[in-house]
Amino acid sequence: MSIQILGIFGSMRQESSNRGLVKLAQKLAPTDVTFTVHGDIGALPFYNEDLEDPSRTPAVVQQWRELVRQADALFIAAPEYNFGPTAVLKNAIDWASRPMGQHVLSGKVISLISSSGGTGGAHMIEQLSGILGLLGNTVITEPNGQIAKGAARIASDGSTTDPSIEALVRERLQALIATVQSTRQ
Ligand SMILES: Cc1cc2nc3c(=O)[nH]c(=O)nc-3n(C[C@H](O)[C@H](O)[C@H](O)COP(=O)(O)O)c2cc1C
Repeated sequence: MSIQILGIFGSMRQESSNRGLVKLAQKLAPTDVTFTVHGDIGALPFYNEDLEDPSRTPAVVQQWRELVRQADALFIAAPEYNFGPTAVLKNAIDWASRPMGQHVLSGKVISLISSSGGTGGAHMIEQLSGILGLLGNTVITEPNGQIAKGAARIASDGSTTDPSIEALVRERLQALIATVQSTRQ
């Protein structure tokens, strides 16, 4: 059975380097893996529990949940904002984590990396890996995925001037695929 990976970037910026990291992962993914990039988690409304009434759940939320449900693994690249995850990414996680007890964001293998400012996203990675782990996922944070001042070296189309960044993304993909395969045995 082929492996389905969903790529998610946690920045709405047009020239986002984290969008570039996800595009690079899609480009480097082996041909027997289906790697889909989610185009815009910024299109999701702010989480509102009133909208859990099925007659009121927006189509964009249903589509987001279905994409997550279909994926074996998530490849997330996101910046750190004020020592934590960006609001747009946390909002997307909140939507995927409900309804409680039957939500789609559990049992996934998730790779987390960050192109950020000076910290390289260390705080964000620590917080988000805790959150995603508590939701019941296996989170991969090795080899170290903290890329300090990454926007200077990663374009939003996935091109990079730094071979170590391509090597990191390649290693993470391998780890993600190997972990999914090991959970299927
Ligand atoms: C509101 C805001 C807060 C930020 N806080 C941090 C931070 O706490 N640590 C850090 O390393 N970079 C911080 N940055 C810098 C971003 O992580 C950095 O610009 C990153 O490259 C943006 O990702 P992108 O290229 O995908 O848009 C912050 C940027 C903004 C706009």
